[in-house]
Amino acid sequence: MKLVGISFGDFPSCPLLLCIALALCFNQVSSTTNETEKLALLAFKAGITRDPFGMLNSWNNSIEFCQWYGATCSRRHRRVTVLDLSSQGLFGSISPHIGNLGFLRKVKLQNNSLDHEIPPQVGQLRRLRIFLLHNNSLVGEIPRNISSCLDLIVLSVEKNELTGEIPRELSSLTKLQDFSLSNNNFIGSLPSFIGNFSSLVALSLGWNKLGGSIPQVLGYLTNLQYINFASNRLLGTIPSSLFNLSSLNKFGAAFNRIHGTLPIGMGLKLPNLEVFSIGYNQLEGPIPPSISNCTKLARFQISSNIFSRKVPSMENLHKLSWFGIHHNMLGSGEHESLSFLCSLTNSTELESVNFSMNKFGGVLPKCLGNLSTTLWSFAATEGEIFGEIPEEIRNLINLEVLFMNRNRHSGVIPSNLGNLQILKLLQLSDSNLRGTIPSSLGNLTMLIQLDLHGNDFRGQIPSHLSNCRSLDGLDLSDNNLSGAIPPHLVGLSSLAIILNLSNNHLTGILPIEVGNLRALTALDISDNLLLGEIPISLGDCTSLVHLWMEGNFFHGSIPQSIKSLGGIEYLDLSCNNLSGQIPEFLAVFRSLELLNLSYNKFEGMLPCEGVFKNATRTSIVGNNELCGGLPEFHLPNCISKSYKSRKINIVIVFASVIFGVLGMALIVVLIYLCWVKKKVNEQVSSSMDDSRLNVSYGTLLKATEGFFATNLIGVGSFGSVYKGILEDNGMVVAVKVLHLVCRGALKSFIVECEALKNIKHRNLLKILNVCSSSDYQGNDFKALVYEFMDNGSLE
Ligand SMILES: *[C@@H]1O[C@H](CO)[C@@H](O)[C@H](O)[C@H]1NC(C)=O
Ligand SMILES: *[C@@H]1O[C@H](CO)[C@@H](O)[C@H](O)[C@H]1NC(C)=O
Ligand SMILES: *[C@@H]1O[C@H](CO)[C@@H](O)[C@H](O)[C@H]1NC(C)=O
Ligand SMILES: *[C@@H]1O[C@H](CO)[C@@H](O)[C@H](O)[C@H]1NC(C)=O
Ligand SMILES: *[C@@H]1O[C@H](CO)[C@@H](O)[C@H](O)[C@H]1NC(C)=O
Ligand SMILES: *[C@@H]1O[C@H](CO)[C@@H](O)[C@H](O)[C@H]1NC(C)=O
Ligand SMILES: *[C@@H]1O[C@H](CO)[C@@H](O)[C@H](O)[C@H]1NC(C)=O
Ligand SMILES: *[C@@H]1O[C@H](CO)[C@@H](O)[C@H](O)[C@H]1NC(C)=O
Ligand SMILES: *[C@@H]1O[C@H](CO)[C@@H](O)[C@H](O)[C@H]1NC(C)=O
Ligand SMILES: *[C@@H]1O[C@H](CO)[C@@H](O)[C@H](O)[C@H]1NC(C)=O
Ligand SMILES: *[C@@H]1O[C@H](CO)[C@@H](O)[C@H](O)[C@H]1NC(C)=O
Ligand SMILES: *[C@@H]1O[C@H](CO)[C@@H](O)[C@H](O)[C@H]1NC(C)=O
Repeated sequence: MKLVGISFGDFPSCPLLLCIALALCFNQVSSTTNETEKLALLAFKAGITRDPFGMLNSWNNSIEFCQWYGATCSRRHRRVTVLDLSSQGLFGSISPHIGNLGFLRKVKLQNNSLDHEIPPQVGQLRRLRIFLLHNNSLVGEIPRNISSCLDLIVLSVEKNELTGEIPRELSSLTKLQDFSLSNNNFIGSLPSFIGNFSSLVALSLGWNKLGGSIPQVLGYLTNLQYINFASNRLLGTIPSSLFNLSSLNKFGAAFNRIHGTLPIGMGLKLPNLEVFSIGYNQLEGPIPPSISNCTKLARFQISSNIFSRKVPSMENLHKLSWFGIHHNMLGSGEHESLSFLCSLTNSTELESVNFSMNKFGGVLPKCLGNLSTTLWSFAATEGEIFGEIPEEIRNLINLEVLFMNRNRHSGVIPSNLGNLQILKLLQLSDSNLRGTIPSSLGNLTMLIQLDLHGNDFRGQIPSHLSNCRSLDGLDLSDNNLSGAIPPHLVGLSSLAIILNLSNNHLTGILPIEVGNLRALTALDISDNLLLGEIPISLGDCTSLVHLWMEGNFFHGSIPQSIKSLGGIEYLDLSCNNLSGQIPEFLAVFRSLELLNLSYNKFEGMLPCEGVFKNATRTSIVGNNELCGGLPEFHLPNCISKSYKSRKINIVIVFASVIFGVLGMALIVVLIYLCWVKKKVNEQVSSSMDDSRLNVSYGTLLKATEGFFATNLIGVGSFGSVYKGILEDNGMVVAVKVLHLVCRGALKSFIVECEALKNIKHRNLLKILNVCSSSDYQGNDFKALVYEFMDNGSLE
């Protein structure tokens, strides 16, 4: 076999062996040419390094090579004409000796794991008509020698790792009918010689790195049925000649940088079009109404372009199944811009409709309910759709995906939405929906994700939702929900991605059933009115990465069980009434990125290890009883306990005096502000936005030496009070900075303002200024500035 190898030029630098080989060859070639074929096949076998199904075991001397698996010989001359080893899981390379199988007409090696280059010796296969190498791991360029295979009809190298340009030499392959190069790394431009492949039926060039423009000459390929150059770097316009190809049934050009418009009459010349996919380009103008003449159209995908105006009627497109026009400028300014939806009712095979992210306005038409029941995905997000979601939606019983977030819907969720028994994803967030969450949603037992955040839902969370036993993400945040958290819902063990109930008015405790959430990654119950202790069972939620519980009324200490949440990255317990020591185990949590314990009543020594080493990752402000820690935290030393407690007593007395007075002052300020508000006749919406009083963040920053710790004279749950000196007039002031970090605090602050609106009170402390602005990080900053009085003289 080695000798034969030599004769094929593998070792040309070895003259002695070469002579022997040549001698052997000349002796044998004429007499037994079929031996050459056999040896070539054995050489091919030698190139295969792995043959998991053992198909090449049959390639042995005990049977004639024409009987070998995958080899087919011509009947008369006993020459191998077909080599078919597709889908055999083969690893290895294609031996150059394949060039000696000069009678091969079909080579099918697709769907294996062959690597290395395609040997240029394939150029010797002059009779080759079908050459399939797709779905392997071949590298290098397409050998130029393949241009000698003048009879090639099918050349498929899709899904390899080939590189380089498409060789110009291939222009000789004018008999090609199927030319498939997609899913490689080809660069350069789309060669215009393809315009000479007059028999071409399928041209597949997608998922490469081809640049330049689409050659006009492709429009001469009158037999072309399939063109795909999706996901390249093509520029320019789609040549109008391509819209002349009446045999075309699949056209793909998505994910390029193509611009221009679609010809008005395109549909008239493409009667066979079934797939039209040009999404993710820069095409503009209207969708040509003639598209309705493409009566075989099944997939229409033009998303992420700049198409505008009204969507024409699709009523003749009875075969339409995928309709994707999302992320365009469609519907802009047109009256009844959603009327195209009714024209889709004739498409009895409709499966997916997406018209999200456009300019469609108006109300969803009732004909929505007449769409084919084959529909499984309906997306209409980020538009300007208002009004009620039509009840008729209940007819779409095979719907699995329903996305309508970010519109201006105003009504309630139709209670019969519970009819959509196989719904899996339901998103109706940020859409002005109101009323209660219908308990019938609990009938959607296959639901995987439910997102209703950012609406105006009121009332209780329906406990029936716990029937949705496949739910892995639930987001009801940013609504006005009240009442207790249903224990069975919070114990829904399928929840794995997120449970978000934040920013509502939920009351009561966090039920112990929360411990069932062993798979949950993120739990957010922040900014509610929850109370009680943190349940010990929370420690069972061992998958938690994000835990937000801030802005509630939780009290007691952090349970030891939390120790088992070792994978946590973000932990926010701020703005509660938690007390006790800060547990040491928090310093051991490796992955903890951010720890917020501020505005609680923690006491004792602050740990110094782990997350506590870094003052930007840990926040502990507003806990008066802490000591120790890194100097950056500006906490008192823990050593002199008696001194400390004495000092603390003084501070407490002092602070309570200040807060007593400031509390009253606050009331007065509120009354004053409400009075101002009344006076300007609802011109000012926020009670703290009076510009006459306003002083800048910068001024206060200077006055308090950057809110430096030594100027801090007190901290309360509402805010911190600093002593400062105004630069302008040298006046000594007390600056009360509101803790806006506690969103709940601001909420209750405003609520109290509302409540105190009508109470009249005598001015006790002179308020000088109000600061309502943002700090240099862009966060909201609100502060009140009082005249400063020395100790004891405040009253
Ligand atoms: C090889 O060719 C010889 C004649 O050249 C023929 O007799 C013989 O049957 C062939 N062997 C095979 C395996 O086809
Ligand atoms: C040769 O191939 C045949 C058919 O697959 C098989 O039965 C036989 O065991 C093989 N012989 C050797 C020596 O591998
Ligand atoms: C590809 O080969 C694998 C086995 O290696 C097989 O399971 C799969 O069906 C083949 N795919 C095609 C399209 O032939
Ligand atoms: C590609 O080949 C791999 C095995 O190498 C197989 O698992 C996969 O299914 C094939 N893909 C196609 C589309 O046939
Ligand atoms: C490639 O083709 C050229 C010209 O047809 C030929 O001279 C050369 O030997 C071929 N190379 C191989 C490796 O077959
Ligand atoms: C197409 O074929 C014609 C005639 O065979 C030839 O003159 C022309 O150069 C070819 N075009 C390209 C781009 O190869
Ligand atoms: C389209 O085809 C017609 C004839 O079938 C021809 O007259 C016209 O020039 C072609 N248009 C383009 C842009 O190639
Ligand atoms: C195109 O569709 C329109 C409206 O449906 C119809 O009147 C016209 O006859 C159609 N034209 C062709 C060429 O099919
Ligand atoms: C549905 O198609 C029929 C013809 O098949 C047509 O008469 C009717 O107007 C179409 N209806 C709609 C709503 O497009
Ligand atoms: C619909 O389009 C939007 C916007 O492009 C996209 O984010 C969303 O994934 C699509 N939804 C479906 C179900 O196709
Ligand atoms: C759907 O839910 C409602 C209210 O929860 C219930 O009365 C009704 O029986 C349920 N329907 C089905 C089909 O399960
Ligand atoms: C503290 O954490 C911040 C944010 O993670 C990081 O940028 C900074 O380098 C850390 N500082 C130290 C001293 O580790």
